[in-house]
Amino acid sequence: MKHKRVVVTHYGGPETLLVVEEECPEPKCHEVRVRVLAAGVSLPDVLAREGVHPETPRPPFTPGWDLIGVVDRLGDGVTGIEPGQIVAAMPISGAYAEFVCLAQNELVPVPSVLDPAEAVSLVLNYVTAYRMMHRCAKVRPGQRAVIHGAAGGVGSALLQLGRIAGLEMYGTCSSRGASTVSDLGAVPIDYQQQDYVQEVRRLSGDGVDVVFDPIGGSHLWRARAALRRGGRVVGYGLSTSLRGQGLTSSRPGRRRRFRGTARFVLYIAGGWLLPGRRRVVPYSIQWFKRLRPALFRQDLTALFGLLQEQRIKPLIARRLPLTEAREAHELLGRGGVIGKLVLLTGGPSLACGGT
Ligand SMILES: NC(=O)c1ccc[n+]([C@@H]2O[C@H](COP(=O)([O-])OP(=O)(O)OC[C@H]3O[C@@H](n4cnc5c(N)ncnc54)[C@H](OP(=O)(O)O)[C@@H]3O)[C@@H](O)[C@H]2O)c1
Repeated sequence: MKHKRVVVTHYGGPETLLVVEEECPEPKCHEVRVRVLAAGVSLPDVLAREGVHPETPRPPFTPGWDLIGVVDRLGDGVTGIEPGQIVAAMPISGAYAEFVCLAQNELVPVPSVLDPAEAVSLVLNYVTAYRMMHRCAKVRPGQRAVIHGAAGGVGSALLQLGRIAGLEMYGTCSSRGASTVSDLGAVPIDYQQQDYVQEVRRLSGDGVDVVFDPIGGSHLWRARAALRRGGRVVGYGLSTSLRGQGLTSSRPGRRRRFRGTARFVLYIAGGWLLPGRRRVVPYSIQWFKRLRPALFRQDLTALFGLLQEQRIKPLIARRLPLTEAREAHELLGRGGVIGKLVLLTGGPSLACGGT
């Protein structure tokens, strides 16, 4: 039986994404075949396509960090999981497909009442936000935070979790995201029109306790100027230093996985060595999941609970069919996307002869 998956043929712009049709994969020993219901589209997918993300595989590869799916077929040696069960996974690449085979220990059960598009938004974006907020920044009620990219996938997750944690928040965004950011409880600051450090200082007086920065480069270092003494910058992305100014890059790519990393390390060291106790702390979900898989599962399960209780509500920018992955990348590259883009699969063609 055939299924569809999306392939990056070579590093570069969205035109490098092709949809191929091929035989369904068969699960090996201790693997589970999952019929994908929803795959998230995120900036790390775009960076991987361009060849500049640290986790970029060599082409041809199927992108897609996160997915929600239905257990379809069990490989030998798999126990404790049933066909038909809804699961989540963060394979880092491979999720833009109708079927994937994953090791059983990669799968996290999902309450079946949840909307797959909302649930998939939690896997990469909300686990990242939750960990950074509660483990890296160790926030306390009443503290102040700056959230960059506040209308984006991770940014909007930080705002929702920050509100639950009782933070006073400032969110940088372009003018398109301002109303969303204020609806989510933060003061919007238009990063294209205003100097955010000056604005934060003007509004907060002595600065903030934490800045969450996905931009990287000199932006990361500058964030220290918005901090109170003893505050920290949590750096979790290198968008600018990896790709230059702006969000899009259509130049023919080369694999440059560690660009920007040396500067990041210098900033971390500088934060410790210079007076003022204003630290720069890195965060990486892929290393968190590799080193602490049980905690990853625990955080994701806690977040599914918050979603079920309707205490969080992921913003879904658009739901597109899997075959429109290229359009999803074009949208994300142009900027101004509010929340998460999700690729959905489904329909009668999806029969791989599974159970
Ligand atoms: N370390 C980790 O574990 C981890 C995990 C997940 C994601 N990430 C990183 O997090 C970053 C964001 O990912 P995402 O999926 O949330 O992306 P996204 O949904 O595209 O959001 C990015 C946001 O950044 C805004 N933006 C762009 N330039 C900005 C600037 N100079 N100042 C303030 N905001 C700016 C954009 O706003 P406009 O479009 O309105 O300009 C957009 O809303 C990426 O770098 C990704 O690699 C890291």
